[in-house]
Amino acid sequence: MNQETALLTADPNGYARAAELLRGGELVAFPTETVYGLGGDATNDMAVARIFEAKGRPRFNPLIVHVDRIETVRDYVEWSHAAEVLASAFWPGPLTLVLPIRPGTGISGLVTAGLPSLAVRVPANPVARELLKAFGGPVAAPSANPSGRISPTTAAHVEAGLAGRIAAVLDGGACDVGVESTIVGLTDGPILLRPGGLPAEAVEQALGEALARQGEGEPVTAPGQLASHYAPGAMVRLEAERREPGEVLLGFGRVDCDLNLSASGDLTEAAANLFAHLHALDETGKPIAVSPIPERGLGRAINDRLRRAAAPRD
Ligand code: TXA
Ligand code: MG
Repeated sequence: MNQETALLTADPNGYARAAELLRGGELVAFPTETVYGLGGDATNDMAVARIFEAKGRPRFNPLIVHVDRIETVRDYVEWSHAAEVLASAFWPGPLTLVLPIRPGTGISGLVTAGLPSLAVRVPANPVARELLKAFGGPVAAPSANPSGRISPTTAAHVEAGLAGRIAAVLDGGACDVGVESTIVGLTDGPILLRPGGLPAEAVEQALGEALARQGEGEPVTAPGQLASHYAPGAMVRLEAERREPGEVLLGFGRVDCDLNLSASGDLTEAAANLFAHLHALDETGKPIAVSPIPERGLGRAINDRLRRAAAPRD
């Protein structure tokens, strides 16, 4: 994967080009007030798979969806009083809300990593807002750094880490806040999922109640990282060379199967299909056998997800 990475200026031509690339399923890094994000069309499975590929993430962490207007967010998630309070107090701004996802949003299953919730935010950075407006749809964006490296706050940082792996960087200068957004979960009681650019105290003051927190000193774990969270209803058997009686087979490569992640053996295509295919096979109610997936590139993230699905359950 080696492509020319264009450096786009924040002017009408730059926004138009960046939006066109996003529409074509390409990746564009762009500034937000917190850090640079690595953006892709959140409704395009292949674009979202490319985000994980470009970052070299060994697992599918759920991603934050960026939109330009608060009203648009309500199309994607179940809105609540607490959401309204926090959105009107802090959006646009460095706050991400995790809310129950609504059915039929068209958001890729790879964005939520199969979770029933969606992380959303309305960024304040004017360049981010112009890009989102020009694109006109939801943009999934993790921080624009290779996995395990620090988050970028200038276009030069992004280029240093991802040049050759993404279509373009939209240059909007240095980020004001410099640390990631504060993430507040609102699927149950309000909980601080990640401290960030907006002080937790400000959130608590607006809500008029304390935020629950993850245990002191514990690493912040997304629910997606918990083994049990990913399990489909059916039993999952890995490294299956063929389907046993009663099973459905999730194939990879040239095999006779019920659904194929990628008949041509393309790992990006396989990642793009993973969650939708697992859900579809789970609906048959039959045990799911899965073809061997090579442990390289996106195959590592696919296998991580599948191992969680196959892990013994209590
Ligand atoms: O400031 C930011 O938030 C930047 C800019 C680009 O917006 N983005 C960012 O994304 O930091 P990322 O992917 O590096 O971190 C997103 C975090 C992850 O820790 C992920 O686990 C969590 O958000 N997350 C996403 N969806 C979630 C969900 N449905 N439930 C819980 N956590 C979620
Ligand atoms: Mg990050």
